[in-house]
Amino acid sequence: MSIGYKSFHESSVKDPKGFWTEQAKLVDWHKPFEQVLDYSKPPFAKWFIGGQTNLCHNAVDRHLKDRAKQTALVAVSTETEQERAYTFEELHTEVNRMAAILQAHGVRKGDRVLIYMPMIAEACFAMLACARIGAIHSVVFGGFASHSLASRIDDAKPKMIITAEAGMRGGKAVPYKPLLDEAITLASSKPEKVLIVNRGLSEYSTVANRDIDYASEREKHLNTKVPVEWVDATHPSYILYTSGTTGKPKGVQRDTGGYAVALASSMRLIFGGNPGETMFTTSDIGWVVGHSYIIYGPLINGMATIMYEGTPLRPDAGIWWSLVEKYKVSVMFSAPTAVRVLKKQDPAFLSKYNLSTLRTLFLAGEPLDEPTASWIHDALKKPVVDNYWQTETGWPILAIQRGVEVMPHKFGSPGVPVYGYNMKLLDEATGAELGPDQKGVVAIEGPLPPGCMQTVWGDDQRFVKTYWETVPGKTVYSTFDWAIKDKDGYFFILGRTDDVINVAGHRLGTREIEESISSHANVAEVAVVGVEDQLKGQVAIGFVIAKDPAKVANMEAEVMKTVDSQLGAVARPARVYLVSALPKTRSGKIVRRALQAVAEGRDPGDISTMEDQSVLAQIKQVIGK
Ligand code: PRX
Repeated sequence: MSIGYKSFHESSVKDPKGFWTEQAKLVDWHKPFEQVLDYSKPPFAKWFIGGQTNLCHNAVDRHLKDRAKQTALVAVSTETEQERAYTFEELHTEVNRMAAILQAHGVRKGDRVLIYMPMIAEACFAMLACARIGAIHSVVFGGFASHSLASRIDDAKPKMIITAEAGMRGGKAVPYKPLLDEAITLASSKPEKVLIVNRGLSEYSTVANRDIDYASEREKHLNTKVPVEWVDATHPSYILYTSGTTGKPKGVQRDTGGYAVALASSMRLIFGGNPGETMFTTSDIGWVVGHSYIIYGPLINGMATIMYEGTPLRPDAGIWWSLVEKYKVSVMFSAPTAVRVLKKQDPAFLSKYNLSTLRTLFLAGEPLDEPTASWIHDALKKPVVDNYWQTETGWPILAIQRGVEVMPHKFGSPGVPVYGYNMKLLDEATGAELGPDQKGVVAIEGPLPPGCMQTVWGDDQRFVKTYWETVPGKTVYSTFDWAIKDKDGYFFILGRTDDVINVAGHRLGTREIEESISSHANVAEVAVVGVEDQLKGQVAIGFVIAKDPAKVANMEAEVMKTVDSQLGAVARPARVYLVSALPKTRSGKIVRRALQAVAEGRDPGDISTMEDQSVLAQIKQVIGK
């Protein structure tokens, strides 16, 4: 039954308290909240004041009554050829064991636990175990290397780090433990304990009195029951680092009650998942999509979730669809990049499986181009729903909300504002609200709805300054995305206003990559920009001025190696060009927009503010455009 989008959205922003009181019924409360929203200190929004709940209880314990024997988690690895399903009861047992290990080693409510793990079931146990005892997890994507890890360790100051000795990609073991050891050496803050899940994939060394083995610890706690720690709705559940304009990643801090409510309602009204069904999200737990829609969202909604370790092409390009058939997936969530990869394969890989249970495919994380959307739509013959959001918001900002009203899709648009979000399209220079088809910055008027970031971990000032003070004359949340809005209220996202790039759906900061490249002994100056790429959406391209031009024989490879070892291959530029000068304004600022235009073979536009206009011509020559 259709509720009617317009009035539903209107009621959510005009009467947020009434609206969210209704949605809050979707989760269990140990103690009911007394106040729906405290917005006495804008832009800090506190939801469900006085209420107590727990994410692990809502994701696991709550379902034991009706669905103990139902599958909760399926961990599939096409790398190690292992596949294991856990019922809610079994998941409950494993989470209790993990929680007991954490407690036995001194982890308490409010302590941080850093999780640096591949896509294995134990990573899910670890996240839920933290939530169970009120510890704050900070998952770091397994593709990040030692320097990225070290800066996150120093910011979050975890008491414990949970890891595995290795992941596996494309049939090769990818060691995690040595990178973690290096990161701990680099970091000033040291964890007391490192818990290691040994998968038997690679050799590793251990540090006495610090490193502990998961399997033997688990044996000690096979039957230990750890009661749920009821926490205030505003208690932080996790920190997830994300890139921005500066080189220092921001710790996005999320609450507990608001997040549980936002996810529960999104599972019904946006994703249309029903308890007892299966959701398959192909992201990674290191990203926000993994937090919200591999772990918490589906489980809170009483659905089974699939964790997948491997590529979409091994053993062949039918692997994901075979899982859809086997586990009767009803809701699938992936990224345009993955679809572009599959599109290059024989369509028979898709048509040979029975996909009758699948209702909808959701895609997010980067712009969905028309050829990709049409191809997958024609191949599946199911609705393909683009949705736009950010690590900061934790759940969709723009989407066609099929559980509210099945509105028509428009190619190139993720749709209309999601309920709870009071969206504005504003002029960057004046802050004025824009009319149809005018380009502006996507902004959200406070209070942000439940589930969105509470603050930057340990730095309220940075939260206010970074997100709320960039549009002139207004205190509004900036998404740092350009967009236009058409006369029907559909948004079309046009790219970032800052230095964030999006490589195969992975959000990266060009400043972090520049800092890493600068550490190479022969780099005098560097600029990194995101350049359009057919498969990955964007790739990073580096422009480097060498200190000693006589020593540049292997410079490109060396610079790539530097980035690999510090940040991880995920941040490695696709090309590094040696140049003799960078385009700069008269005040010495690098004009990255012009570099990007030249690298994409576009006209750089107005370059009158540039100090030396011949620089771009030289760069064109170097890159052969
Ligand atoms: O630029 C937008 C782009 O990805 C950014 C957020 O990335 P991240 O924090 O990793 O969160 C991803 C959550 C899905 C946004 O600021 N982006 C995300 N989704 C879309 C998108 N751009 C266009 N269309 C989308 N659907």
